[in-house]
This record gives sequence, structure tokens and C-alpha cells, in this order.
Amino acid sequence: MSDPSVPHHVAIVMDGNGRWATSRYLPRIAGHKQGVEALRTCVQSCIDRGVAVLTVFAFSSENWNRPTEEVSGLMDLLGMALTREVPRLQANGVRMHFVGNRLQLSSKVQAGLVQAELDTSKNQRMIFNICFNYGGRWDIAQAAQKLVDSGQAITEMALDRAMALAHVPDPDLLIRTGGELRISNFLLWQSAYSEFYFTNKLWPDFDAAALDEAIVFFKTRERRFGQTSAQLKTQGKSHPVKVHAVKVA
Ligand code: IPE
Ligand code: IPE
Ligand code: MG
Repeated sequence: MSDPSVPHHVAIVMDGNGRWATSRYLPRIAGHKQGVEALRTCVQSCIDRGVAVLTVFAFSSENWNRPTEEVSGLMDLLGMALTREVPRLQANGVRMHFVGNRLQLSSKVQAGLVQAELDTSKNQRMIFNICFNYGGRWDIAQAAQKLVDSGQAITEMALDRAMALAHVPDPDLLIRTGGELRISNFLLWQSAYSEFYFTNKLWPDFDAAALDEAIVFFKTRERRFGQTSAQLKTQGKSHPVKVHAVKVA
């Protein structure tokens, strides 16, 4: 039985790489490289704490608007990180999923994503979703288009099934590093009842202790899902378990 005080699904907006680098008089890409290191630590910490699903925002639909040099640096970094990190993730029982519009990525990057997913497809210890070229609005639109194409009625459940994260329950805890108090087009649909945790820590500085702080915050929240506090008390639950009829993880 998993520990109910540990969030089942943690989602993270990994923000602050650029500022981390700039404050050290380094090029922004150095911050992104350090961000990969922080992500490696975070994956391990999530496994150690019994988190079942980790979803991270690595590149947004809007990040194409950055200088060409930074965008191409991020694409190269994705390729390098795949080569370097997949064997470790594989050994750790982590199953990878890439979430986002792949069609705009180079065929080489696309092939790398497919291979990483294939290599880790049998793993069961933790699901690791990497949102790359992802936008919450893109996700809702592509889900709606799928329903239109298959002639289905647009219901909440049908949309939910067609969304890019249909293979996992909604995030319980959504963390944003870097001090901004906004969602920046991350999981617009799926974060309807997530607990939000914002920290000023820049992503490359986010370590195991910082994750623990976020989990401590999560434990203090009363998740009511529209009910009253008194109702929860009579039901003998600190927070109701939201039923995910269509999601499996
Ligand atoms: C987040 O860090 C990583 C990406 C968006 C790819 P930023 O690059 O946005 O870092 P700041 O916000 O400029 O510090
Ligand atoms: C959100 O960060 C996207 C990722 C972390 C990948 P941004 O840095 O792009 O967000 P804004 O532009 O400050 O809202
Ligand atoms: Mg940013």
C-alpha cells in the first residue's frame, strides 16, 4: 500500500535555469545543463519517496519564441540527455513518456524519443512524463480534434481519455520553481484539483530537501474536491480519494 501522505503524481514547472546561469555570468545554456543534473536528482528522490508518477515541463510550445541559439541548444541538450540518462533510468525501473507535439521536432529527436520510450516500456517503478513542445491549450485542442475525427460527443470523460496524459491520474502536487506565480500553459486541464506549491528556488538548486519541503506542504493541505471540511470529517478521511474512472496508473 502506498503512503497516502506522499503525492501519487508530482508535476513540476522547472523554471529558473536562465537566471541561475546569468547570476554566475554563464551562458543560459549552462543553466539548462545544470537543470538536467537537478532533474536526475529529482527523479531519484521521487523514486526513493514512493512517488508513482513524475511529470516535468521541459520545453513549452511558447519556448520556440526564444533566441534561435537557445532553442537549438535545448534541442541538442535533449539529445545528449537521452543518450546519457536513459540507461540509468532503465536500470532504475523508470518508464518514460514524451508528451507534446512531436511533429515539430527534428526526425532525429523524434526517433530518440521513440527509442527511449521503447527501451523503458516494461518498467514499473515510476512513470516519468517529459513534456516537451507541450502546451495545455495544444493538449485540449488535440484531444477535441480526436473526438471530432472519430465522431464522438465532447464530454468531460471523452476529452479526458483523449488528452496527452490519459495514461496517468491527474497531478496531486504541482510545483513551480523560479518564483513566478503562473501556470505558463502547463497542465491546464489536468491541474483542476492539484495542490500548487511555488518556491523561489531556481530549478538547478532544487534538491532532495527542496522536494521534501514541497511534500511537507502537500501533507498540510485538506483536499476537499468541492465538499466541505465537515463532510470529510464525517467520512473519516483527511482528503477524499478522487476517482479516476478512466486513468490507470
Ligand atoms: C526553464 O528555465 C527552462 C525552460 C523554459 C526551457 P528558464 O530558461 O525559463 O529560466 P529563466 O526563467 O529564464 O530563469
Ligand atoms: C515555463 O517556463 C516552461 C518551462 C519550464 C519549460 P517559462 O520560463 O517559459 O515561462 P514564462 O515565459 O516565464 O511564463
Ligand atoms: Mg523561465
